[in-house]
Amino acid sequence: MTSSTPEQLEMIAELRALTRKFAQEKLAPRAEHDDRDEIFRPENIQALGELGLTGVPVAEEYGGAGLGYEAYTAVIEEIAQAHAAYAISVAVTGLPQVILSKFGSDAQKKKYIPALASGRAIGGFSLSEASSGSDAGSLKTTARKDGSKYIVNGTKLWTTQGDSAETIVLMARTGGPGPKGVSAFILEKGMKGFSLGKREKKMGLGSSHTMELVLENCEIPAENLIGNEGDGFTVAMTALDSGRITIAATANGVSQGALATAIAHAKQREQFGKPIAEYQGVSFMLADMATALEASRHLVTNAARLYDAKLPFSTEAAMAKLFATDSAMKITTDAVQILGGSGYTQEFPAERYMREAKVLQIVEGTNQIQRLVIGRKLVTNA
Ligand code: CAA
Repeated sequence: MTSSTPEQLEMIAELRALTRKFAQEKLAPRAEHDDRDEIFRPENIQALGELGLTGVPVAEEYGGAGLGYEAYTAVIEEIAQAHAAYAISVAVTGLPQVILSKFGSDAQKKKYIPALASGRAIGGFSLSEASSGSDAGSLKTTARKDGSKYIVNGTKLWTTQGDSAETIVLMARTGGPGPKGVSAFILEKGMKGFSLGKREKKMGLGSSHTMELVLENCEIPAENLIGNEGDGFTVAMTALDSGRITIAATANGVSQGALATAIAHAKQREQFGKPIAEYQGVSFMLADMATALEASRHLVTNAARLYDAKLPFSTEAAMAKLFATDSAMKITTDAVQILGGSGYTQEFPAERYMREAKVLQIVEGTNQIQRLVIGRKLVTNA
């Protein structure tokens, strides 16, 4: 693992404390209510932006904080502990920033990144379709060049905050079948021929709206092509590699919230004349939960530091995503168990954490896809 300097660690601790204060004061109190009523509050993203927390890894030149992924994951974890939907919102708003920073033209960087990095605009990422989820390279939405614009037709699925995003990186087919025929575009809210389809009714993350995007002869200016035609799959995969680190950090926040809830309950709840925390059956569960979370944090830090050091990190990001999200599922399930009947009610946050954890095993590549990425690397290097 590459290491951080004492100054960097101090800066990250300060950023974490700043984020925790905001998240616990402003996000946590409304998490249950907003999750149930599926309310997303864009003003929260604006407020996070004013604190400098929506463009943490992006260069200062474009309005970001220029602090790197290790700092970014600390921010995401703290937000997720309060209300995971906003950690996902910040992470997904980060995707177009990270993509344009790496693949965008100077004009695209100047036009789009500052608003996203400052929280004035919300971002999106649209890859999946009805028949292309894990097999992302088989997507069917087409983009046909017509003079100074592309005409885009198709329906995209599972686009996080597609209804509030101003700037969405959208993958569409400009060439033949397979990954090499895919290109990436910047789609803006309000572009002619772009409308919203259904909003998914989900098990959890109600405040994070998951949208269908409908493109009917949608006109995207040719200058909104990212890189060259055919670069889109690489653009998407590179973004997902870094996005998987943020999903793992989100899982750690959810796990931390569940663990804290379980500890508080176990110390206060008495049965057979003493707090249940004093029974080994409960304290061993807490010990296993804390150990899995600690291991997950190390995997996230490792992947983030590799990213910050500009070293290969794809496999480590997949490992972090796989382990942290599987751990979150186990930790949150055990938290519900420790709370007993109360854990199954909506009076306590444990059941929300459990519902949040489930989707993290699925988004930005199912954990089966993470195993595929890791397994392929092992065999290739053997
Ligand atoms: N970085 C850069 N390039 C990559 C790459 C990576 N991580 N992975 C693959 N590529 C390149 C390959 O090098 C290859 O290029 P060459 O032919 O020039 O060598 C090309 O892309 C095709 O690669 P593969 O043959 O490996 O592609 P594949 O079709 O076998 O797919 C996969 C690989 C890992 C399964 C990939 O399809 C995948 O990750 N699937 C899961 C998709 C996913 O995570 N979807 C979630 C989207 S999140 C969302 O939509 C919601 C939201 O709001 C955020």
